[in-house]
Amino acid sequence: MTLILGIETSCDETAAAVVGHGQQVKSSIVKSQIDVHKVFGGVVPEIAAREHLAMIDVVVKEACQEAGVSLAQIDAIAVSQGPGLIGAPLVGIVYAKGMAYASSKPLIPVNHVEAHIHGALLGLDKSADLFPCMALVVSGGHTNIYFMASPIDFELLAYSIDDACGESFDKVAKLFGLGYPGGPMIEKLAALGKRDHFPMPRMMEQKNKLQFSYSGLKTYMVNLHHKLAKPLDQNIVHDLCASFQEEALGQLIRKLNACLDQRPQAKSVLIAGGVAANQRFRILAQENFKIPVYFPQLRFCSDNAAMIAALGFHKYDRAQDKSRFNSLTWDAFSRYQFN
Ligand code: KG4
Ligand code: ZN
Repeated sequence: MTLILGIETSCDETAAAVVGHGQQVKSSIVKSQIDVHKVFGGVVPEIAAREHLAMIDVVVKEACQEAGVSLAQIDAIAVSQGPGLIGAPLVGIVYAKGMAYASSKPLIPVNHVEAHIHGALLGLDKSADLFPCMALVVSGGHTNIYFMASPIDFELLAYSIDDACGESFDKVAKLFGLGYPGGPMIEKLAALGKRDHFPMPRMMEQKNKLQFSYSGLKTYMVNLHHKLAKPLDQNIVHDLCASFQEEALGQLIRKLNACLDQRPQAKSVLIAGGVAANQRFRILAQENFKIPVYFPQLRFCSDNAAMIAALGFHKYDRAQDKSRFNSLTWDAFSRYQFN
């Protein structure tokens, strides 16, 4: 069995994992920095990089120990190349390059956003039958839909022209003073509210327009908040959260359906990223698609290194010329390349 060590430091989680054959998780260690960043209401890039530096060695050693493997038994190392807060992915990359050089192991650079999709495949018995598939990554930084002919083919069909979906949850939560990250709190309060109480604007309504937009919905919430009498009644907050959440998730369902119309050969839908943890979203997805839908286990929705190892495995396994993984000259990137 091919064993890949995955390393992830692109945002505020220092993570390492050992994964067999792209799906069997031998270990997955995630050290979250949320408590450090909470007081600032969001991730502070400089602090994130310093925290990664302090934790990376401990986390990698713990991942190997829990998997019961030594570095000698690892076939290759996969590391998140970006996008990220530049100083943050650099820590993981420099560490992984040093490790690969010292041990003469192949090093596989992996796109963090694309790797999220593999979170939905971790632990499944087989995934070959799921392709070609439609895949949605819905996180704090990205809202991307891909048509995937294979585990390593990512044809980008739709992305957000402004805010990401998770980002809008975070901003609305901040408006109500609910803390960071906002998604889980909005979900909790939304469960107590009426989903149709406040009519919401429908963004990107044209069915064939394969783009997302969340900043209009967020601005609508800001204006609505200004107009309502303070302090807000708790029931009103529940209804606001429920109405906002329904519209935010509804846009994801509509655009996934529009993409499926364009690619009827898709055999399944994979949904990953932080917002994929939302239980209301899981219900809506099961109700709205005619083909099977797969979500990650909750621990693989948010950032982790098992998904990095998983995509790393498929890239390595399918490469004709494996010598390209001997290169140490590539660098981190901060932004997703929408070419
Ligand atoms: O994938 P992730 O952990 O990090 C990024 O790569 O961005 O996603 C974090 C995002 C945050 O915006 C957070 O508010 C959102 O996912 N999120 C949720 C839920 N849990 C996390 N959004 C809605 N409902 C949730 N239960
Ligand atoms: Zn992520």
